[in-house]
Amino acid sequence: MPKLLSAGIFRHLPAPVGAGLANAETYPPRPPFAARIARRTQRLARETLMAAAQRLGAVFYQDSADRAVLENVIFPYYQLSPAHRRILFVGCDWYTAGYARRMSFKSFATIDPDPARARFGATIHQVAPMRRLSDMHAPGSLDLVICNGVFGWGLDDPAEAERSIEAAWTALRPGGHLVVGWNDVARHAPFDVPGLAALRRFTPIEFPPLGVHRHGVDHDMRHTFAFFAKPAA
Ligand SMILES: C[S@@+](CC[C@H](N)C(=O)[O-])C[C@H]1O[C@@H](n2cnc3c(N)ncnc32)[C@H](O)[C@@H]1O
Repeated sequence: MPKLLSAGIFRHLPAPVGAGLANAETYPPRPPFAARIARRTQRLARETLMAAAQRLGAVFYQDSADRAVLENVIFPYYQLSPAHRRILFVGCDWYTAGYARRMSFKSFATIDPDPARARFGATIHQVAPMRRLSDMHAPGSLDLVICNGVFGWGLDDPAEAERSIEAAWTALRPGGHLVVGWNDVARHAPFDVPGLAALRRFTPIEFPPLGVHRHGVDHDMRHTFAFFAKPAA
């Protein structure tokens, strides 16, 4: 019998449908390495531009549901409260650089153990963990401590958290406020924040603009704010 088709002819025919799909899954249109390089280059360019702009005095803010509460509800209340003049904000990042200006009628200090974060802090800034805040702030010298996004974001040891809250207690005047913000999700809640023994010394208070002691932001990071006062002597 004559040979009508050679094996080679199939090389010029379209591949079967199934084979084509398998091929598409094995070889994505853009190699991941190139995509990773592109993303990194983009991030580096953005960070370089932001750092240059920040050196010229620009500040940047992060768009998130929890920042909306912190910056548009919590900050304005304390900014306008004559009872809260001396404020300590714990933990700094690129999006907190403008916070000192938002509290411009106050004595606004910051603290962060990472020296690289000092450029996002206030003029009165301490490079130290929160438990050491008494090195700069005398007992009873603060009206307000805001500790937001620190538990579960570097301060992950419950014993360290206890000492940090105790340090806030000492530095606050009787009647002074403590605001704690954390993410109520497993990845960023290495311990039970409301269960901290040092917090139980404080009185849970209702924060007037929100009408509650504890406010949960309705988003996937489950950001929670809780408001406390050091009992008056
Ligand atoms: C996610 S950022 C939060 C920044 C800011 N507090 C905010 O409102 O989101 C966490 C910051 O907490 C700082 N941090 C970690 N451990 C700390 C500690 N023991 N005391 C003070 N800050 C700490 C980190 O260096 C980092 O800059």
